[in-house]
Amino acid sequence: MKVSVKVPATTANIGPGFDCLGLALPIYNTVTIEETVLPGTGVEINVFADSDIVEQSSLEHIPLDNNSIVYKAVELLYNMIGQSPAELRINIHSNIPIARGLGSSSSVIVGALYAANELLGRPADDLALLSIACEIEGHPDNITPAIVGGLVLSSQEDDGSVVYRKLVWPEDWALTICIPDFELPTDIARSVLPADVPIKDAIFNAKRLGMFIQAVNTKDSELMKFALQDRLHQPYRMKLVPGLSSIIENLKHFDNVLGCVLSGAGSSILIISEKSNLDKIRNVVKETWAEQNIKCEIRTLPIENNGVQIINNED
Ligand code: HSE
Repeated sequence: MKVSVKVPATTANIGPGFDCLGLALPIYNTVTIEETVLPGTGVEINVFADSDIVEQSSLEHIPLDNNSIVYKAVELLYNMIGQSPAELRINIHSNIPIARGLGSSSSVIVGALYAANELLGRPADDLALLSIACEIEGHPDNITPAIVGGLVLSSQEDDGSVVYRKLVWPEDWALTICIPDFELPTDIARSVLPADVPIKDAIFNAKRLGMFIQAVNTKDSELMKFALQDRLHQPYRMKLVPGLSSIIENLKHFDNVLGCVLSGAGSSILIISEKSNLDKIRNVVKETWAEQNIKCEIRTLPIENNGVQIINNED
């Protein structure tokens, strides 16, 4: 039996929602799992770059051994039903840029879990799979939209369960994702964060997250401009993303730009704007990075309202 699933990329944090806000984007990884017949081969994991934007060199960030997140995902599911993973071949076809803050690791965790669950006859429901995936990733902000699609606010509770709600993204707002040619592995981006933050910064973010939800629900562009700010992670990560502060500064002259924030842990940058002057916005980013000899790929994309999908299930 062979199962393939397709999982969208995601952008997380989105300004004030550190570790709790994320949305899905129409770029996809495909994970295929099949039972192999050769005894003793264990779990074989292969990764292929399917798009020019995924460099061969960055594939090494997806480890292929039994310590990998992919193996762990499959193992936790098998353990849940009292089994161990048998002879399996897992092929990952990667279109989502790796170590760029676009949810590449979440997509392979979710893909492996959903494909294995299908192979096993669906022993786990969506909430159980969500909980296992968040346990591996450590936070739910990329995992939840990868599973359910759309814009999602989510929290993993102390008992491991995940509470989430989808919000409706205003159609008039554009998402421009700017992907530089340098990687920023999430563990490095998390290592620069402090263990504690000043109470005034926590309050700043609490207010902005409230404004974000209200701005989205009422399609209030002016409020969104206040909302798209952060003091919990972005200031600490600024030094890891050359050009970010200049890009933010240069985009301040654009009335239709609602905000410019790190995508997840970086290195990509997400610009939220109204749907005008998009060429000019993209040029500002391109030129600002070019001044620092940084090449980039910039895409203005719609939100992806679907999450993980089974695309093939062959006996
Ligand atoms: N919320 C996470 C972070 C996203 O910013 O570290 C990256 O996995």
